[in-house]
Amino acid sequence: MRTALTDALTQLPDALQSVVSDWINDANFGASFTPEQVAQMESASGLSGAALRLALLPLAAAYAVTPISQFNVGAIVRDESGTLYLGANIEFTGVQLGQTVHAEQCAISHAWTKGAKRLTDITINYSPCGHCRQFMNELNGAESLSIQLPQCDAKDLHTYLPEPFGPADLGIESRLLTDESNQLSTDDIDIPLLKAAADAANRSHAPYSGNYSGAAVETSDGEFFSGMYAENAAFNPSLPPLQVALIAVNMAGYHWTDIRSVALAEMASSTVSHLADTQATLDAIDPDIPLVYSTR
Ligand code: THU
Ligand code: ZN
Repeated sequence: MRTALTDALTQLPDALQSVVSDWINDANFGASFTPEQVAQMESASGLSGAALRLALLPLAAAYAVTPISQFNVGAIVRDESGTLYLGANIEFTGVQLGQTVHAEQCAISHAWTKGAKRLTDITINYSPCGHCRQFMNELNGAESLSIQLPQCDAKDLHTYLPEPFGPADLGIESRLLTDESNQLSTDDIDIPLLKAAADAANRSHAPYSGNYSGAAVETSDGEFFSGMYAENAAFNPSLPPLQVALIAVNMAGYHWTDIRSVALAEMASSTVSHLADTQATLDAIDPDIPLVYSTR
């Protein structure tokens, strides 16, 4: 287990530490809590709902990868079933700052890669930046998303983002996290990692460019982690497919040194491409990581 996670555990109330330590010591801990685990934590600690999520924030922030800022942000999202997903900010040295993943984006994409369809709450240890407010406005259920910060009443997203600009302004009805199938056939792909990337492309949210795209990362123990591209109505807050796959890798407890190979699948004729940025970010992580690429 990560040292940061062990350290974070000591910041939790004692009653929570004893329940949570068994779970996080499990090598398969996936940085999420089922509704049953949430109920167990609530009864052990006497903290419920938002108070429990605030108490768990140090665990989320322990997943931060911050070689540039050393400023660790933690976020926890709750989906409509009551499952909690942790997230933290991820920075990359050697590329432009635009490749950074914010904690809010991390927690949301983590939930998305595990099948969450609608989020009810997000709990964060710092106020969400403008870029994250805009990213959250793309979500299914953005209108009712509740934002909870320490020492603050919960407020809905549109209190943090008044007079929002969003998908409807561009005539787009689909939202991030709804079931999307982009009708791409992936049956003919015989490289498994590339097929995983293309399957992710099929579930990507790219209504603005039409560049349905996905990435997949294979770790040295043979696990696959997929990431779907998440476009945003304001374009710049979009999250590239490699970042979403790396979020899944990080939240499963792996390090970049565990990456064996990466695949990227995107559309052949599109106005945008992820190839150059994906290659640049991977080169910055480790130039020896092979990238398999295909378009359709
Ligand atoms: N950060 C977040 O993760 N969320 C926010 O909304 C504020 C900023 C991160 C990004 C970067 O890694 C570091 O904090 C400094 O901006
Ligand atoms: Zn942000």
